[in-house]
Amino acid sequence: MPSPLFPVFLDLAGRRVLLVGGGVVARRKAEALLEAGADVVVGAPALVPELAGAVAEGRLAHRPGPFHPGWLDGAWLVIAATDDPEVNAAVAREAEARRVWVNVVDDAPRCTFQVPARVERGPLQVAISSRGEAPMLARWLRERLETELDPALGELAKWLGAKREALRTRFPETARRRQVIETLIRGPAADALRKGDFAGAEAAFAAALGQDATPRGRVILVGAGPGDPGLLTLRGLRALNQADVVLHDRLVSREVLALARRDAETIEVAKEAGTHHTTQQRIHELLIEHARAGKTVVRLKGGDPFVFGRGGEELEALRGEGIPYEVVPGITAAVACGAYAGIPLTHRDHAQSVRLVTAHCRNSIDTLDWAALAQERQTLAVYMGVQGLDTIRDRLIAHGRAPATPFALVENGSRANQRVVLGTLANLPERALAENVRSPALLILGEVAGLATELHWFGSPPIDAVSPTLAATLSSPSPTTAALTLAA
Ligand SMILES: C[S@@+](CC[C@H](N)C(=O)[O-])C[C@H]1O[C@@H](n2cnc3c(N)ncnc32)[C@H](O)[C@@H]1O
Repeated sequence: MPSPLFPVFLDLAGRRVLLVGGGVVARRKAEALLEAGADVVVGAPALVPELAGAVAEGRLAHRPGPFHPGWLDGAWLVIAATDDPEVNAAVAREAEARRVWVNVVDDAPRCTFQVPARVERGPLQVAISSRGEAPMLARWLRERLETELDPALGELAKWLGAKREALRTRFPETARRRQVIETLIRGPAADALRKGDFAGAEAAFAAALGQDATPRGRVILVGAGPGDPGLLTLRGLRALNQADVVLHDRLVSREVLALARRDAETIEVAKEAGTHHTTQQRIHELLIEHARAGKTVVRLKGGDPFVFGRGGEELEALRGEGIPYEVVPGITAAVACGAYAGIPLTHRDHAQSVRLVTAHCRNSIDTLDWAALAQERQTLAVYMGVQGLDTIRDRLIAHGRAPATPFALVENGSRANQRVVLGTLANLPERALAENVRSPALLILGEVAGLATELHWFGSPPIDAVSPTLAATLSSPSPTTAALTLAA
């Protein structure tokens, strides 16, 4: 896989750009370059009338005749837009030798820079690139963004540009300034500009300038969901975009972390269970330290922060220190694993209730109300239970749960490498061992687990293309004892 391109926006004002070619493609490029203020030199034996006109008006310089390497003298950038591949190749070679960035139109391998598809709203520009591999797709995306991006964004960008100096002076601390600008972007100032109400925008600005200039730290406790970035909430995404610091657990997927603000400092605060990890006390200290320094701290936790996430303890610590906080819920593993394995956690015919239980150590296992857990027509979602499956099986059966009760162990739920292992309570630990089930895995036990085979695939590969094991399982007479590999 080749490296991704590094995106930049070039200031071409007054800088020489050589455009080789005199046809319609060159004309389009010349227009864009002139708009950017470049000093454009067109080299070609002949020019289309529009280019010839621009030369006559003195807006372009012309180098007549076949390509000559001397045309590159003084150029910062070159675009080869002729219909002769050999000429384009010669331009690319010469440019490369002189370390001048070159774009050969419609010939990605010869380019050292590419021109993205663009969406513009005043000074705000969104550039889209497919690294030259799928220009049509980039154009399609541009069309979508054109319809989705508010036309008033350009006005807002200009207005904020005019306020920049005043904001810098009033709020010298970057973190605090960012918070105030956030309120302008998301609050009444932007609304007013959208309606063309400039007086309203100015009033909102005056109110913003009246705010306290000292950085105001806070902590946002965010549920990252079980792994699939599509399961992060919009509020969670917004918090990640505002973060100065992100403190995250090991369970948070890389895809979700990649959504954080680029400049945010990311700190992993917990490692694999049983190995070295940051203590809960140290996590509290880190949250408090960073918030006290005026930072917006996002505490990112797998699933939901309040479901076996120790979010409650962290909030108590913050309350104790008077640190402002918010909580953004997330999709907990039980809900996601059920959905992604085709298991409804409740069902009119099979389960009237669902219990979320944790069983990660002997202490927690001993304090559980096994008689209540063993009742029929309810679903148990057992978190962190991979280690104690034999105890779970023995206690449930001893308290009356039928050995034939189906289970599903969902490993890496909602992630690309999700696996679902099915069986009955009687053979729970043996099935887990045989299939080498690893953490993170969630146990769903109850009649509903028997529905796991009634999976519906939308947009995924057909079942027989997924894995021979899965196809065999689905046609097996006793599917509840087979293993499903669901990863595509
Ligand atoms: C410390 S608990 C955190 C639970 C989390 N706060 C939530 O709401 O999902 C960790 C346990 O959650 C379960 N878990 C979390 N993510 C999972 C996933 N993607 N697939 C399966 N189980 C998961 C596993 O049982 C794991 O041992």
